[in-house]
Amino acid sequence: MATDLTEHTITDEVLKTFDTATDERFRQLFRSLVQHLHDFAREVRLTGDEWFTAMDFIERLGKISSPTRQEVVLLSDILGLSMLLDKINEQTGGSATDSALLGPFYVQDRPTAPNGADIANGVAGTPMFMAGRVVDEQGRPIAGAQVDTWHSDGTGFYDVQMTEPLHGEFAMRALLTTDHDGKFWYRSITPRYYPVPTDGPCGEILRAANRSVMRPQHVHFWFHADGYQPLITQLFLKDDPYIDCDAVFSAQESLKADFVRHEPGVAPDGTKVDEPFVTLDWTFTLAAQ
Ligand code: BEZ
Ligand code: FE
Repeated sequence: MATDLTEHTITDEVLKTFDTATDERFRQLFRSLVQHLHDFAREVRLTGDEWFTAMDFIERLGKISSPTRQEVVLLSDILGLSMLLDKINEQTGGSATDSALLGPFYVQDRPTAPNGADIANGVAGTPMFMAGRVVDEQGRPIAGAQVDTWHSDGTGFYDVQMTEPLHGEFAMRALLTTDHDGKFWYRSITPRYYPVPTDGPCGEILRAANRSVMRPQHVHFWFHADGYQPLITQLFLKDDPYIDCDAVFSAQESLKADFVRHEPGVAPDGTKVDEPFVTLDWTFTLAAQ
């Protein structure tokens, strides 16, 4: 240990202690983390009180977190780190559809549904007819792709947040399979914008920054197909009031979609709808593995 420990020499002293690590990646990650943390503290002249507040914040993040309350993930989301990692690790660089966050409302036990099914499971709302197509980067249809889809209701709540009238059943989510032409389609209800959870530590950050807490109206998708990279993405209502201030930075230009409003009449699946309805059409491109 250097005897003349100063705010400038301590960083090297700490960095050296990782030289004995056998895992090279571990060494790289922790040396870089220490370097950046120390530089940060020096740059902002961090006080003891401020660091204590930050440590208390981290402790509260952990305490409020549970399998159904992902506050640590939410912090990563609102700091833009989750989307940064998406971009860093995107292996496509080609014409594949951009990815977006998985979010906390995906459910592994979701029901499967045939194409054309009404997946709203009785939840009331403006009918929405989704018609999707899954293709490769050459525009060729991908038959037999697995398509997970899920979204909120017209007041911004997911099925897992509702008690009535679902009684534990799922709604507005399903696993579908593309047909020989790469197509999948379903009926549901139109979602709406909603806030990220603000009753925990992350809410304190959003309020202190006077930031929008909203996620613009969106539908989630997760595609799996043999020979292709999985794709997790979302489609966003392009003229949503919150489209340019998504609290978790997922609403990218390339994912802004027309949720087209129609007067009562015949829906794309041939059924007669006696109230206004919405259609959403999109082609998703998967990158080869
Ligand atoms: C969502 O899209 O469901 C979501 C994503 C990140 C944080 C909160 C919600
Ligand atoms: Fe969502």
